[in-house]
Amino acid sequence: MGTKRKFWCHADDHHRYLFKYARAGTGEDWAEKTAAEVAGALGVPHAEVDLAVYEGQPGTLTLAITDDEHALAHGNELLQERRPEYPLHAAYSASEHTVTFVLDALSQSFIRAPEGTASADLVTAADWFLGYLMLDALIGNTDRHHENWAVLVRIGQAERYAALAPSYDHASSLGRELADHERRARLEGRDRRRTVDAYCKKARSALYRNVEDPAPMSPLDAFSEAMRHAQLAGRRWLERLGATEHATLSSIVDRIPAQRISDPARQFAVAVMATNRRALLSLLEAQP
Ligand SMILES: Nc1ncnc2c1ncn2[C@@H]1O[C@H](COP(=O)(O)OP(=O)(O)OP(=O)(O)O)[C@@H](O)[C@H]1O
Ligand SMILES: [Mg+2]
Repeated sequence: MGTKRKFWCHADDHHRYLFKYARAGTGEDWAEKTAAEVAGALGVPHAEVDLAVYEGQPGTLTLAITDDEHALAHGNELLQERRPEYPLHAAYSASEHTVTFVLDALSQSFIRAPEGTASADLVTAADWFLGYLMLDALIGNTDRHHENWAVLVRIGQAERYAALAPSYDHASSLGRELADHERRARLEGRDRRRTVDAYCKKARSALYRNVEDPAPMSPLDAFSEAMRHAQLAGRRWLERLGATEHATLSSIVDRIPAQRISDPARQFAVAVMATNRRALLSLLEAQP
């Protein structure tokens, strides 16, 4: 599944890993790694990612979140089960992929919070999904389409049981696709239309507010919309973000080896997170 070149492999530790090739000049490898570490810092369940090289080609290795007892059921399958006319194949243009509908699907009683999580304030799968949306808003992830979230279903159980799967596939984020001259221009911000802020505002997630809408929401609006449905969970996630210092986020980017990321890309990724962090935290201030 997915659109990029990749393969599964077994390692000596008996685990399965997905090697995803990073297309030249795209930054897919460092963005995927950085995003996973940022998720970790926020307590968002996520697939473990490492930078890797295969036959001289850079990429990432992602530890499998499935095993012999758990299979993935992707968002589009869950949504179609709930509403048969849901478009299974249109990943980015599915305006039926609304925040309201996703949270509704995740609120079914057979779907639990991600495995291994325990929190007095974050109880349901939907509560945890808000964390995934906050992560998207922080890193500017434009790829949360209906195959980039899923539940893990227990295989061979008489009673249906599933848990929200850890978050995965965050490579379309942090301005990884920009050319360095574009990054520099935006970091300098001489042209008011060409700033980091303008870049962050332009990001589009693959989530819609209403089925009738012609375009999807920004990742920030998607989180904010989700928060309307789950105020308390939203607050808890924002408090976690507030407790995670900017220096923690920037040190994650600093740890990417220089062969994988240019200086402007590093600075820009840090600036994207600083800008989005401020925007997210202002939602907390706007709360009653
Ligand atoms: N860690 C994982 N464990 C198990 N399955 C995974 C894992 N990561 C990804 N997958 C599965 O592989 C599919 C493709 O992976 P991924 O989404 O990372 O690739 P992609 O080609 O970048 O996708 P896209 O086309 O959305 O950009 C996912 O939709 C999911 O079904
Ligand atoms: Mg994907």
